Amino acid sequence: MIQIQALEKGYRKKGGGFVPILRIPELGFGEAESVSLVGPSGCGKTTLLHLVSGILLPDRGRICFRGREVSNLSEGARDRFRAQHIGYVHQTFNLLPAFSALENVVLGAFFAGRSGKETRDRARALLVRVGLEDRMENRPGELSVGQQQRVALARAMINAPDLILADEPLGSQDPETSEAVLKLLLELVRESRATLLMVTHDPKTAGCLDRQVDMRPFAVTCGGRAR
Ligand SMILES: Nc1ncnc2c1ncn2[C@@H]1O[C@H](COP(=O)(O)OP(=O)(O)OP(=O)(O)O)[C@@H](O)[C@H]1O
Ligand SMILES: [Mg+2]
Repeated sequence: MIQIQALEKGYRKKGGGFVPILRIPELGFGEAESVSLVGPSGCGKTTLLHLVSGILLPDRGRICFRGREVSNLSEGARDRFRAQHIGYVHQTFNLLPAFSALENVVLGAFFAGRSGKETRDRARALLVRVGLEDRMENRPGELSVGQQQRVALARAMINAPDLILADEPLGSQDPETSEAVLKLLLELVRESRATLLMVTHDPKTAGCLDRQVDMRPFAVTCGGRAR
């Protein structure tokens, strides 16, 4: 489903100069495969998810989604591609503070061109499945961090995406909720035959997925230390 070839990504320094972050000669993810991305803080896990989703563009190399080169699309086309195919649970959730939990999930569908009663019903059902049946009308600021993370998970699932990018999606959950939410996530992934790329620092969680990818070999600099 995803093919990465000869990818290089770095950041321009404010005063000039360039810091290389990731160098990936070749990496692929299959249809309906669930993959954990592991590695220390700063090694480029979030950067990789941003590249795969087209939020960031590579400096060199190609990223293809089902044979189509995402890194070649215009910004508008990449936004449409993301809305159509990807459910993203951001590390910082990215919920809209002025809207309720339910509205945040519904908006995930709205940006993909879907609205109406069916969408609202699906949003409610997803919030029930992540254990937030009694918090739907609350805004993010009125929810605990773990609850906000579960809203972000429900929003990522609203369009039954082909690809789910989840950046430490269980990082703020207690062990019991974490297990339940992981089970749900894997159930939803199997139901829709989606591909899952999930960043996690928890070996037990990583072990529940089909494959583990260690990001360290791709990290040019890691946490500021040259390798
Ligand atoms: N906008 C930016 N400008 C400059 N450097 C950046 C920028 N964004 C990220 N970086 C650097 O790129 C490297 C990789 O960052 P990234 O967020 O991908 O790491 P990560 O593996 O997700 O870490 P964590 O586990 O802490 O979330 C880090 O060294 C970070 O400081
Ligand atoms: Mg990160």
